[in-house]
Amino acid sequence: MSNSILLQTLAGEKTERPPFWFMRQAGRVLPSYMKLKEKHSFWEMMQKPELGADVTLLPINDLGVDAAILFSDILVIPYAMGMGLEFTDRGPEFDVPLSERANPLEVLNPQPDKLQYIYEVIKQIMAKKPAHIPLIGFCGAPLTVLSYMLEGIGRSKDFPVTTTYLYQNKEMVKKIVEAITELSIIYAKEQVKNGIKVFQLFETHGGLIPWDLYQELFIPAVKKIAQAVRETGTPFIYFPKGIGAGIQDITPDMCDFLSIDWQTPMETARKWVDSSIGLQGNIDPRLLYADQKTIENKLNQYIDFGSKNHDWIINLGHGFLPDIPYENAKFLADWIKAADWKR
Ligand code: CP3
Repeated sequence: MSNSILLQTLAGEKTERPPFWFMRQAGRVLPSYMKLKEKHSFWEMMQKPELGADVTLLPINDLGVDAAILFSDILVIPYAMGMGLEFTDRGPEFDVPLSERANPLEVLNPQPDKLQYIYEVIKQIMAKKPAHIPLIGFCGAPLTVLSYMLEGIGRSKDFPVTTTYLYQNKEMVKKIVEAITELSIIYAKEQVKNGIKVFQLFETHGGLIPWDLYQELFIPAVKKIAQAVRETGTPFIYFPKGIGAGIQDITPDMCDFLSIDWQTPMETARKWVDSSIGLQGNIDPRLLYADQKTIENKLNQYIDFGSKNHDWIINLGHGFLPDIPYENAKFLADWIKAADWKR
């Protein structure tokens, strides 16, 4: 039996409390991160192995989480495909949006070697991390990655250029998705070789298009990435944010655990999602703007679900937001550990 409560839950074992980690646990709410950010750029923190490892491990001490997630970004894949990328104060920006290219395939030149620095970060994390804390690896899912590539920058939450492009250039989209998927698979397998023990696929923009169109254009890629990761024996978590009733169509060949967004109640998710798939989620990160009494009242409503469901990882329904008070993030982490889960 593993000595990690997260790996135990992923393996279907019973534990005294649900394990937890938080999306964007390293890069947003921690005062220790803000301090490093004064001295180092985001790229620098991601690319220097010592620094990348230190940032990855910050939430273990500062929040007491049950797992670390690699400090990197989903946009390293388009970068390794030859797109010029900068992280600015307004967010990530590509030099030329793919939608403005007459033939996007001509400018894409996937170079797996351009991801090598990330494996050096993982090696450092392995050398430094506590034995009972597993490392989670990740990449972006094809629609989310594609939407930044086409748009160039996340100017509008609706990604209007992307949605129009999908309807006008379906065959081209399929080819770009194939290229993203191929590189993502190489990347995921290298992460596993270097020591990650869990993999999460982030489809933050899953709700951008109708579910049937998503199924047609993107689910084949999700299945391929899932299969490649699971062949290595690594549990696979899929986070398709905003797909609503689409969670009823998630099948066991797509993931081991499904991460539920804050829109869908956990009880509904448990009724709708195939019973062989575990669940993760789904605290609204904005709850953490409230006072601690309000936060606690809401958290207490999760006890009933947690007492009945052992195949559940507590997480947020989307990542921490930058201005959430650290004290409230810590309050949440401490509450999870101290609660009587009635198991
Ligand atoms: O805890 C962590 O932060 C883990 C590492 C991580 C980052 N991005 C670091 C980051 C992870 C898992 C991601 C995933 C990611 N990146 C997603 C999917 C999950 C989600 O949050 O929706 C998406 C859509 C991106 C793309 C991206 N990268 C955006 C939109 C931005 C700008 C705004 C922001 O802060 O999210 C980034 C930059 C980014 N990625 C930062 C960090 C720490 C901010 C850099 C800084 O500190 O200035």
